[in-house]
Parts: sequence; structure tokens; C-alpha cells
Amino acid sequence: MMKVTIFGTGYVGLVTGACLAEMGNHVVCVDIDTAKVERLKRGEIPIFEPGLESIVRRNHAGGRLDFTTDAAPAIAHAEVVFIAVGTPPDEDGSADLQYVLAVAGTIGRHLDRYAVVVNKSTVPVGTADRVREAVAVELAARHAAVEFDVVSNPEFLKEGAAVDDCLRPDRIIVGASSTRAVAVLRKLYAPFNRNHDRMVVMDERSAELTKYAANAMLATKISFMNEIANIAERVGADVELVRQGIGSDPRIGYHFIYPGAGYGGSCFPKDVQALERTAHSYGYEARLLGAVEAVNRQQKTKLFELISYHFNGALAGKTIALWGLAFKPNTDDMREASSRQLMEALWSVGAKVRAFDPEAREETHRLYGDRDDLVLCEHASDALHGADVLAVVTEWKAFRSPDFAAIRAALAKPAIFDGRNLYEPATVEEAGLAYYGIGRGRSL
Ligand code: UGA
Repeated sequence: MMKVTIFGTGYVGLVTGACLAEMGNHVVCVDIDTAKVERLKRGEIPIFEPGLESIVRRNHAGGRLDFTTDAAPAIAHAEVVFIAVGTPPDEDGSADLQYVLAVAGTIGRHLDRYAVVVNKSTVPVGTADRVREAVAVELAARHAAVEFDVVSNPEFLKEGAAVDDCLRPDRIIVGASSTRAVAVLRKLYAPFNRNHDRMVVMDERSAELTKYAANAMLATKISFMNEIANIAERVGADVELVRQGIGSDPRIGYHFIYPGAGYGGSCFPKDVQALERTAHSYGYEARLLGAVEAVNRQQKTKLFELISYHFNGALAGKTIALWGLAFKPNTDDMREASSRQLMEALWSVGAKVRAFDPEAREETHRLYGDRDDLVLCEHASDALHGADVLAVVTEWKAFRSPDFAAIRAALAKPAIFDGRNLYEPATVEEAGLAYYGIGRGRSL
């Protein structure tokens, strides 16, 4: 059993806290948001994430997981202090470190015995040094001779599978220059390493870059496939066949080569941009990353272009049924979601939207409020009523095998705009609907 404190109860902080408590550690989660802390104490989870609520409740009831706004006792309690607060993009796309450094300062003000300070937030290369400095400045200000180490331990969880990813990580990256700190983390992560050692130990800067490199690589795969899709539809090829054709090469693999309406979420768009900014600040122009981003930006306009083409540009007064609002299935997260770009483009030309999402309706309402050109529907079939066409933006399992005859009957101008290539064009067309996919042998 180890004593752990985690600053930040967002996705990463809360999931990490719950999983470390599940392994028998005593975890205290600190957040400055009093209302959120109160809700968490009552077992109310502010986000939709499969399995998270039960693991939080179980460990809270078991006395292994506490929530507080009071930093001082939480720091005094800890052998390991995680920093898992947000790093939102600055105006120029670089990561804003003010929250990370503020927590580092707080740690320095209250630390009174050796602890390992762990950066879990996705932070630019060099942040471990800045955190070390911020802690040291505060310790020096109160003449405290307390030893500490700073470690970079980036998180690789996926929204929608976060608890599972955290309990069964592919790898545990530990960037540290102190053997004492590595020993502490080895002890903390021992339960995750039982079958084979997943810990990869390296220096702090390499660990920080590993996180960005992983996300940038995945984003690159997606933008690459979207580029192939755009070529496919011009040359009259089907990207879905091309995808299967190349995925069979184990060096390429089937994962993360699904073309679609662009990638969203809180990580890829932000991290690709931040890495590009970091490179720029060191005098290197990361041209590939710039292209990955540009392709994605363009891809997010794709569904709107297809719909506009279908209506010969006359979209005013038309109603579009939209299935899927979240940036991907199994989450209610709308950050950088492709649905937002599509809805906003449709509204800007006077079209209306009837939208359904299994989880993200509340979040959509929070973002856009009540407006005449948006109806949030309780069921997928409700969204079709009174709509002209259907656009599918998120690949929720519930959308995979719909009743095409019913869709055709409900729509005024039967057509499906399949932003995730969920359907076979022939099946949709046989049911009497026009089909538009991403890169499926159809040229605009
Ligand atoms: C991503 C990474 O996958 C995680 O490994 C990483 O830990 C996390 O960022 C992070 O940095 O915290 P996440 O943002 O939750 O996780 O979502 P993904 O499952 O990676 O999906 C991202 C976007 O790419 C979605 O919009 C999805 O629809 C899109 N996507 C994914 C495609 O368009 N095609 C694909 O083949 C795969």
C-alpha cells in the first residue's frame, strides 16, 4: 500500500486515482472545484466513462479513495504526488502550463518529507525541469531542506476505454534521472507488472516526447488514410478495400487506419499542434505534422460539402438528421468533435439539425443552449422525423445496422451521409437511399 495524492480530477486524474486505489493504495484526489469535489464524494461522476462510476464508488466506500480541495494535508500524506491538471492550448497552439506550474508551486509550499512528483499531464518537452524549479523555488522561500524528485510518467488511456487501459496498460513510461524515484514508481506500479514488466525507464525529456510522438503517429495514420480516401474518390477506387489491402501487412496493421470525418477529442488536435509549436520554438519546421493537421481540418468539412453537393448548394430551410455528436463512441465528450463543425456549417447556411447521440445530448445542450435550428432527440428514429437526409458522424455500435427501409420512409430526400464508412453503399442504395461515404469511389 502506498500513499498517493493526485492533483486534478479530470479524465486522467480521476481514472488514475481510481485505478491506483483499486490496487490497494490510499489515494487522495485534490481539485480546486468545490462543487466537483462534493459530487465526487457522493459518488457522482462528472463524465461518462464505462466502468468508472463503480470503481470510484467501490474505492471511496472502501476508504482508499478520498476527494478534497485542501492541498496541504493531501501533500503531507503523500509518497507520490501526481500532477494531472489540464494543459489547454495557448492562442498559438502551444500547451499552457500555468495550471501544472501552479500545482508545482503548491507542492513546494507544503512538502515536508521526500516525495516523488509525477507529471501525468501531457506536457511539452522540458516541463519536468520547470516543475522541479517551481517546487524548488517555494521550498527555498521557506528555507525547507526537503528532498524530492520529478518524474515524467505520461498517460496513454483512451476515452471510452479509460479504466481498462489504466488497469491493463501496454506500457508504463517512466522518465526519471533518480534511481530513488524509479524505485518508488516500480513499487507503485508492481501490481500492473505482475505478468511481464511493462515499465520502460528513460530520461524525462524522452518520456515527454514519447507521449507526443505516440499521439502524433496515430493522428498521422488517420490523416494519411483520409488523404488516400480523397484520392480514392477522385480516381474511382474504394478506400475500404484499400484499407483492408494495406492493413494485412503487419508492418502497417489494421489499427487506426479508418478514414472518416476527421479526428477530434481533447488530445490529437491539441497534441499535434503543441508538438509542432515545440519543434518551431527549437528552430525546426515540422512539415509532416503541419500536413497532418491541415488534412484533418479539411476532412472535418467533408460531410458538409457532400450534403451541400446533394442539395446543389440550396441548404436553407433543409433539415438534416444527425446521428452521433460525441467525438467518438462511448464518451459524452464533444471537444473538437466533427459533429460541431458540421452543425455550425449547416446553421450558417440556414439549415436545421435534428440530432441524436446516446450520451452527448446534455453536453451539446450545454454548449449550444436552446436554439430554433437544433432539436436534440431522445431516440435515433426521432431524429429522422421531418428530416430531409441523414448524416452519421460518430460510429456508435447502435448505428451499425439500422433499418434502412424505415430510414428511407422517414426522410423527405432519402440519402445517407456516412461519415465513418459504417455501411455498404450497395445495401443502402438497394434500400432506395442515395449513399455518400468517405473515399468510396464517388467523385464530387
Ligand atoms: C487518444 C489516444 O488514442 C490515446 O492513446 C491517448 O492516451 C489519448 O489520446 C490521450 O492523449 O490522452 P482519445 O483522444 O481518447 O485517445 O481517442 P481515440 O480513440 O484515439 O480517437 C481519436 C479520434 O480519432 C476520434 O475522433 C476517432 O473517431 C478518430 N479516429 C480514430 C479515426 O478517424 N480513424 C481511426 O482509424 C481511429
